[in-house]
Amino acid sequence: MNNMESANHVRGRSVYLDDIPVLHNTLYGAVLGSKAAHAKITGVHLEDAMAVKGVERIFTSADIPGQNEIGGIIADEPLFASDETHYYGQPIALVVARDELTARRAAGLIKIISEPLEIITDPRIAREREEFLIPPRTFRLGEIEEAWDQCEYIFEGSVDSGAQEHLYIETQGAYAYPADNGGIKIHSSTQGPTAVQRITAQVLGMTMNQIEVDVARLGGGFGGKEDQATGFAVMTALAAYHLHRPVKLVLPRHDDIRMTGKRHPYSSDFRIGLSKDYRIIAFKATMYQNGGASADLSPAIMERTLFHSTNAYFIPNTEVTVYSCRTNLPPNTAFRGFGAPQGIFVIESAIALAAYKLNIPARLIQKTNLLKEKDLFQYGQVASGSNIKECFNEASEKFQLNNKEKEINDFNASSPNARRGMAVMPVCFGISFTNTTMNQARALVHIYQDGSIGISTGAIEMGQGVNTKLAQIAAAVFSVNINRVKLETTNTSRVANTSPTAASSGTDLNGNALIIACNALSARLKKVASAITGCNAEDISFHNEIIFKESTPTELTWQELIKEAFLKRVSLSEIGHYTTPKIFFDKTSEKGNPFAYHVYGTAIITVTVDCIRGTYDIDEVLIVHDFGNSLNPVIDKGQIEGGVLQGLGWSTMEEIVFNSEGRLLSDTLSTYKVPDIYSAPSRLECIPLETTGPELAVMKSKAVGEPPFMYGIGAYFAIQNAIKAFNPGYTPDFNLPMTPEKVLRNLYSK
Ligand code: MTE
Ligand code: HPA
Ligand code: MOS
Repeated sequence: MNNMESANHVRGRSVYLDDIPVLHNTLYGAVLGSKAAHAKITGVHLEDAMAVKGVERIFTSADIPGQNEIGGIIADEPLFASDETHYYGQPIALVVARDELTARRAAGLIKIISEPLEIITDPRIAREREEFLIPPRTFRLGEIEEAWDQCEYIFEGSVDSGAQEHLYIETQGAYAYPADNGGIKIHSSTQGPTAVQRITAQVLGMTMNQIEVDVARLGGGFGGKEDQATGFAVMTALAAYHLHRPVKLVLPRHDDIRMTGKRHPYSSDFRIGLSKDYRIIAFKATMYQNGGASADLSPAIMERTLFHSTNAYFIPNTEVTVYSCRTNLPPNTAFRGFGAPQGIFVIESAIALAAYKLNIPARLIQKTNLLKEKDLFQYGQVASGSNIKECFNEASEKFQLNNKEKEINDFNASSPNARRGMAVMPVCFGISFTNTTMNQARALVHIYQDGSIGISTGAIEMGQGVNTKLAQIAAAVFSVNINRVKLETTNTSRVANTSPTAASSGTDLNGNALIIACNALSARLKKVASAITGCNAEDISFHNEIIFKESTPTELTWQELIKEAFLKRVSLSEIGHYTTPKIFFDKTSEKGNPFAYHVYGTAIITVTVDCIRGTYDIDEVLIVHDFGNSLNPVIDKGQIEGGVLQGLGWSTMEEIVFNSEGRLLSDTLSTYKVPDIYSAPSRLECIPLETTGPELAVMKSKAVGEPPFMYGIGAYFAIQNAIKAFNPGYTPDFNLPMTPEKVLRNLYSK
């Protein structure tokens, strides 16, 4: 089944924030961002801006009735900067005017007088100054200091990875208006409607029940709207609260790119020790996370980096420390993979360096160290249902890895100016929010008198297809035609206290809650059916809209049954509540069982480098991936393709550049290049691993949103291998993205 919304998407009929019919008297906002990355504000002059015809009012920190505080995990982030600014683009004021252009023009006339303070953009410098967002954390297994003696080979290196812009098609935005009894209703392009509700209440000094947040769908989120949609939604609510009028704010792309945080850059040092037969005996790493000016989701992202710092390998002795460093950049935030790609790049770099020094293919080390069933993860969880070896072996066989190697060598020997390279990229990704509390969800199901079904959950549709999967689940439990099922907007008044749709767990959590609600309704309806047909409720079943009694069809249809149930005053509504069982984590010992299960897979990536220009083509990305028993192979394939492309972009071409003043230089699509159809792999194939799927995945269909991102990282190492084949003097370094400029330098380095 295709994504059930795609027909409306391509006809332009799906409603996004900017498609909501605008109410009479609506005003429009524009945000003034700081032009200094770190400064003491000594004067704010609004007069010229206020004098612009059509400007209604300008809001600053002085207008906040509650707390000037929007930090989701740690209270360290003002909605509007008041006495100091901490990053270039930090919101200082919201101008509200009769139209968008007037608001923007007026914002440009606000004068901010400030005295510069020292600007830090490098996490290693922040570490020296002890500028931390939270204290460092360390994961350990075995006895690292004793382990070095057992190693035949020890290698050390450092690794850097860059930021990444989310570039959702729909920029950040919100639309708020006064509601009944002094409340506020907000339409927000957010992955976390409850966060918007909670923080708005806090800023306005109101209670959560006075704030209603509604989300139809997002034009992409990718993590960038897990936390960072909140501030902009709160701004519109603040203005609507004061002006008693509807206020809309949609960020222009340029503001969005400059004001919002990105994937965290990391700088890391590692030490890896191997035995004679290439078993990794010890791995030690220290990582500096570039958190930006406030915590945002950095503490949770730091945690996921730690969880994934050994990727798909069993390493008996480890010690990995992450420092979350405060810098004068926009607060960095969630982005597909949530810190895991950064950690995985470090261990894969360590393996690549060892392979280079030992003059063997990296895949030999990778294969030797893959997790086995019952192996211990660093954090105390025992690997269960771990099939990384199967993925790795099947990828090697089905895609004929050995032939490929020979073909590449032949090509390289006969080609004057092009070189091919290959890399294998195993992936292991833990499914569940690492914060156990967040692994809960609710679903509200109404069956209407005519037999149609309306479903509300906490899940946000952002293109990943969660609505389709949820509709499939309800249709399966009731055995009705999927056309009967409608997914309602996500609304905090219908389903409360939601976790953001994130951690790839949207379908697992909300789908399981939905099953619970549907099962309860089903049980009630079976009772009604048994009374009508004269049997026990256990003998009733539903098949394609027909009610069966003892496995044979009756005259009774779904539609008639619903009508009868209603006439008999049986409730046709139900709310299901789900919490993931068996998961826990103790932050004192840094041990536990945090993940419901892991997703595994292996990609083989081949590239061709043009050794005159430094440009490259991604020839093939060939994957064996464990979907479990996929609920929707079409959607899952789309997630693989999108994830791979985004991962390729991060590791090869997307380069975020800040100058020493903390100002973003790559702030347009002419200076920030993302993969397009021309840079997509010529061949992208994904073979599902034959498995039954784990019990804790909804209907045994594994979460798929984030894991494929990591396959793209393999391109970095494939390009390195191509460079190596051309330039015998090349010493690999580990600093992504591998841009064409960098490739060119490396091709001719000595
Ligand atoms: N796919 C599309 N098309 N758009 C998105 O914004 N976000 C990704 C992934 N796939 C995203 C996407 C991220 S970061 C996550 S965490 C998951 O989808 C969230 O949705 P899920 O939990 O339903 O998989
Ligand atoms: N993943 C994604 N988002 C999150 C997480 C996580 O593990 N924890 C908190 N927000
Ligand atoms: Mo995804 S980074 O967990 O929104």
